[in-house]
Amino acid sequence: MEPISPHNTFRFFPNISTSRSSTYYKCTPEERVATRVADIKNLLPESIIGKLETYIDIGGGDSSITIGVAKGLGIDCKNVVINDIFENFTQLEPETCPITYVQTKIDHTKRNVSIALPDNQFDLVTCFVSIHHFSYMDDMFREIVRIMKPGGYLFIREHDVGKSDERIKQFLNEMHLQWEDYQSFIKDLRNKLYKNETYFPKINYFSREGLRKYLSKFNFEIINYGEIQGTKVNNGVYIYTSNKQHLYNSLYQLQSKIQ
Ligand SMILES: C[S@@+](CC[C@H](N)C(=O)[O-])C[C@H]1O[C@@H](n2cnc3c(N)ncnc32)[C@H](O)[C@@H]1O
Repeated sequence: MEPISPHNTFRFFPNISTSRSSTYYKCTPEERVATRVADIKNLLPESIIGKLETYIDIGGGDSSITIGVAKGLGIDCKNVVINDIFENFTQLEPETCPITYVQTKIDHTKRNVSIALPDNQFDLVTCFVSIHHFSYMDDMFREIVRIMKPGGYLFIREHDVGKSDERIKQFLNEMHLQWEDYQSFIKDLRNKLYKNETYFPKINYFSREGLRKYLSKFNFEIINYGEIQGTKVNNGVYIYTSNKQHLYNSLYQLQSKIQ
């Protein structure tokens, strides 16, 4: 979860339309995309910018950020893939930046997920506040690693939530539930994807150190963290002052593929 602007939430689940109030507006959609692009540029090594040729956005929502990042990093839209869990997907800007949609397929019988793309394809993967929503997390990351090139970059925007951090967990859970689109999203998932299943998608939060350790199992190495306004770092401790959702950015590099 990240969105507190109803405008943004609609963007996350473009196939679901709901009524929205304007209570939570924080910035325009354009400003939001521009900020995400600046965030990723801040973390990528300067020598890499302009050299990335292939890009996939995992859990890309409505494609606004995907397209913004592609354009901002000078990646040819033909080499850009947006991924999400919806069967039907309509991208923004089909004329000016045609990208490809590839769905994550979830098989509950086998309890696994797959992304129908060839091995070793991507220089850059982004997960903008999508990881905490992944079902079958290990499988998702096995697929992400499989489709990445060794040496490729993984940019993550996530909530920093430790296992025992009940207060922030409760806050984020409540935010998800107050978020009208999330309720429609869950209903939609139940109806369309999980028809005969008892499975209910749960939210998996990680602390930033927990996620770093988890990703090291797949041979990802942290390159850098990026702090969001409202975060203070004091002797290595992160204090979230006005960053209520404990959001942070991070850039990882896939060192090599574990066989
Ligand atoms: C909070 S939204 C973020 C959307 C977008 N990245 C953004 O920042 O605007 C999380 C997204 O992850 C998607 N998602 C959840 N599990 C996924 C999975 N296993 N594979 C791909 N996308 C997934 C959801 O459908 C949703 O669009």
